[in-house]
Amino acid sequence: MGRVFVAGSINMDVVTTADRHPKIGETVAGQAVHYFPGGKGANQAVAAAKLGAPSTLIGRLGADAFGQQLRQFLTAQGVDLALVKDTADVHTGTAVITIADTDNTIVVVPGANALVSAGDVTAPVLAKGDVAVSQFEIPQATIVAFFKRARAAGATTILNPAPATVCGHELLDLVDILVLNETELGLLAQTELHDTDDPVRFTEAARRLPTGLDKTICVTLGKRGVLALVGGEPSLIAGRTVKAVDTTGAGDCFVGALAAQLANGKAIRDALEYANAAASICVQRMGAAPSMPTAAEVAAVLRS
Ligand code: RIB
Ligand code: NA
Repeated sequence: MGRVFVAGSINMDVVTTADRHPKIGETVAGQAVHYFPGGKGANQAVAAAKLGAPSTLIGRLGADAFGQQLRQFLTAQGVDLALVKDTADVHTGTAVITIADTDNTIVVVPGANALVSAGDVTAPVLAKGDVAVSQFEIPQATIVAFFKRARAAGATTILNPAPATVCGHELLDLVDILVLNETELGLLAQTELHDTDDPVRFTEAARRLPTGLDKTICVTLGKRGVLALVGGEPSLIAGRTVKAVDTTGAGDCFVGALAAQLANGKAIRDALEYANAAASICVQRMGAAPSMPTAAEVAAVLRS
């Protein structure tokens, strides 16, 4: 079995819930405040670990109380933290999240995540069959170094270009599988997708991505499911109807589950079905990293 290596962010999510989002300049009374472990990198590594893949996280924490709490939590989830460094004089990544009516807004302050360097990500010894995963809450130059290393070892690379940020060919050329939502697709394909629900428009946009059609492209469409282009051939994996309470981290759950399945030698189609089922569980629970499902939970959904 291969291993999953995730180079990415680790955040404490400070989550408030309210009946509605405040307008600009307005204050609204909230209901609750939670401190949930999060950060796209950490969420993806937790998902992979809980779904049975050996999962190593590469990243940085500040030398502060949030850093200690996150280290404890991630260790308890079975994530290997040997390559997570404590960094002096910088705070642990922090995301301030407001949830109203299951929709969220997020302000993320990178702190230590901004310091994850090429030196940090070239330390692990990857091998053929391993899966290397990253996202855009650490510097892009770091991801390039990581994926070069992974490719040289024969590992599969998965990029989740989130939050939506423009990126160049040097990075995209190193990607095997791109997992992105409609906002990220719109930005990278330079297409306006705000007012559409039409799978054909998403397919056209995915074909316009500057990646070439040899990549596998997965567009996560929330409750509508996932549009996958494998070798340029589109297919739609239908969303599962569930009652969402918090969608934070659902995309990360999808990415982590996909990586775990591929590390486990599963074919891409089966891995996508599995990841789609995993994400449907994640949205039914509060929090990002704490809402990742177990393999038994995903198996139960796939049987239902
Ligand atoms: O993808 C969800 C994550 O994005 C949250 O956990 C938060 O930390 C933000 O970075
Ligand atoms: Na959740």
